[in-house]
Amino acid sequence: MSEPRIDRVVPAFAADASDEQLLAWYDEGAAHSDGRPWVRMNFVSSIDGAVTRDGRSGGLGTPADRRVFDLLRLLADVVLVGAGTVRKEGYGAMRLPDDAVRWRLAHGLAAQPVFAIVSAELALFPDTAIFENAPVRPLVFTTADAPDDQFQALSAVSDVVVAGDDLVEPSSVLEELQRRGLRRVHCEGGPTLAGLMLADGVIDEFCLTVTPTLEGGDAGRITGEVPSQPQSMRLAQALHSEGTLLLRYVRDRRDETSA
Ligand SMILES: NC(=O)c1ccc[n+]([C@@H]2O[C@H](COP(=O)([O-])OP(=O)(O)OC[C@H]3O[C@@H](n4cnc5c(N)ncnc54)[C@H](OP(=O)(O)O)[C@@H]3O)[C@@H](O)[C@H]2O)c1
Repeated sequence: MSEPRIDRVVPAFAADASDEQLLAWYDEGAAHSDGRPWVRMNFVSSIDGAVTRDGRSGGLGTPADRRVFDLLRLLADVVLVGAGTVRKEGYGAMRLPDDAVRWRLAHGLAAQPVFAIVSAELALFPDTAIFENAPVRPLVFTTADAPDDQFQALSAVSDVVVAGDDLVEPSSVLEELQRRGLRRVHCEGGPTLAGLMLADGVIDEFCLTVTPTLEGGDAGRITGEVPSQPQSMRLAQALHSEGTLLLRYVRDRRDETSA
């Protein structure tokens, strides 16, 4: 199947972007000068704000969304996902295809990103593809209260890291990722994790695909029900493809520095 045409409309029009152009655009500015991890979130939503159709995000994805979703993984040192999304979306191992591996190696990245999962309950199982077929030992971030038997079982197939008492604290996760030299953090959700990351003030960039549908119903929002301060974002890029908008917002720190 041919790739869907994607045009850039902000900051300047550019027609029919190649994968190489898209990767360069998304890579631009995605780093902190002091070496702290840069946190990119990526979500898809309908026009009326639904983040799922029939309980999953996949039904909302358009060809352009899928193209960019796959490309963004190429830029990541670590792909961070909440356990609810891993279970609902049926994640397998985080294994990029050979052409992606070649691109990463040619651009100074590790062959594969690390898959990092966030879970308090640790209802994840060592004998599943996530762990059995992992090209790189996954990371599991959990709490001091995690069930001991699950902690032990998962420790055989992954690095299980305590990063909070009753909830995993996103800032502790980032400290650990930085300690491991994993600075390009790509978070694919879900809403609970995104809400907690927003509340902890760690989101640097938000990539949002707006799919041209109205879904109605009771689908949830992108950021779960976690109290949080509003955070200003600046539109850095907008792409368009057959009615789908792919928006890239970065944190606007002007108010923070002038406060
Ligand atoms: N539209 C999109 O782009 C998009 C993206 C992702 C997901 N989704 C959808 O969102 C839905 C899932 O929502 P969700 O809110 O359940 O997703 P989620 O944030 O991935 O999962 C929540 C679960 O992850 C774990 N978790 C997340 N943050 C944690 C923290 N800070 N500390 C401890 N545990 C944490 C907990 O798992 P344990 O129960 O194991 O403790 C929690 O129950 C699915 O329907 C999925 O399809 C949509």
